[in-house]
Amino acid sequence: MLCGMPAEPLNSLAAHDHADAPRYGAVAMALHWLLALLIVASFSVGLYMASLPFSPMRLRLISWHKWAGITILTLSALRLLWRQSHRPPPLAASIVRAMPGWQLVAHRGTHLLLYLLFFTVPLFGWAYSSALGIPIVWFGLVPLPDFVAVDKDFAEAVLKPLHKGSAFTLAALVLLHAGAALKHRFIDRDALLDRMWPK
Ligand code: HEM
Ligand code: HEM
Repeated sequence: MLCGMPAEPLNSLAAHDHADAPRYGAVAMALHWLLALLIVASFSVGLYMASLPFSPMRLRLISWHKWAGITILTLSALRLLWRQSHRPPPLAASIVRAMPGWQLVAHRGTHLLLYLLFFTVPLFGWAYSSALGIPIVWFGLVPLPDFVAVDKDFAEAVLKPLHKGSAFTLAALVLLHAGAALKHRFIDRDALLDRMWPK
C-alpha cells in the first residue's frame, strides 16, 4: 500500500477475457491523457528554461512551469482520490497468461512509482522555490504558502538536485511505460492499450 493506495487483489488480474475486457472509465482516461500532456510539457519547458540566460522570457517560463507543476500536483491528488472509488479494471485473462511474472510485477511497480513521483517532483520544486524565497502565486491568483525556510545554499545544494533528479527519474519511467504500452500494441498485439484509449 502506498499513498493510501490499496493493492489490487492478484486474483482480480485474470478475471476477464479479451473481447469483453473492461476498460478504464472516462474520468480516469481524461485525467491520464491530460496529465500525460501536462507532464511532458512541464518537463520540456523545465529543460528549456533552465538553459536560458537571465531574461524576461526565462522568468515568464519559470512562472508557467511552476503553475503547471502545481496543477499537476492538484490533479494527481484528485486522480488518486478518484482511483479509490473507481478501481482499475482487471487485466484480460489472455494478457495475464501471456505475461511472465516479472512483467506483471513491473506493470504494477511502474504505476506505483509513477504515482509516487507525481507528488515528489512538484513538491521538491515547490520546496526549492520556497527555500529560494520566491513565493508562488498560482496563475497570479492564488498565493501558496512557503513550507521551507529561506536558505539559498540549501536550495541550490539539496533541493534543486532533488527536483531535477526526481524529474529525470519520472521522464525515464514515462519512456519505459509508453514503450511497454507500444510493445503490447505492436509486438504482442494484445488489447492492453485499448484499456486506456478513448473509443
Ligand atoms: C507523461 C506520460 C504518461 C504518464 C505520466 C502515464 C501514467 C500512467 C499511470 C500512472 C497509469 C496507471 C493508471 C492507474 O491505474 O491509475 C497509466 C496507465 C496506462 N497508460 Fe500511461 N502514462 C503516460 C503516457 C502514456 C502513453 C504515451 C501511453 C501509450 C503509448 C500510455 C498508455 C497507458 C496504458 C495502456 C495504461 C493502462 C495500463 C493497464 O492496462 O493497466 N501512457 N499511465
Ligand atoms: C511534474 C512537474 C514538474 C516537472 C516534470 C518539472 C521538471 C523540471 C525540469 C526538467 C527542470 C530543469 C532542471 C535543470 O535542467 O536544471 C526544472 C527546473 C525547475 N523547476 Fe520544475 N518540474 C515540475 C514541477 C515544478 C514545480 C511545481 C515547481 C515550483 C513550484 C518547479 C520549479 C522549478 C524551478 C524553480 C526550476 C529551476 C529553474 C532554474 O532556475 O533553472 N517545478 N523542473
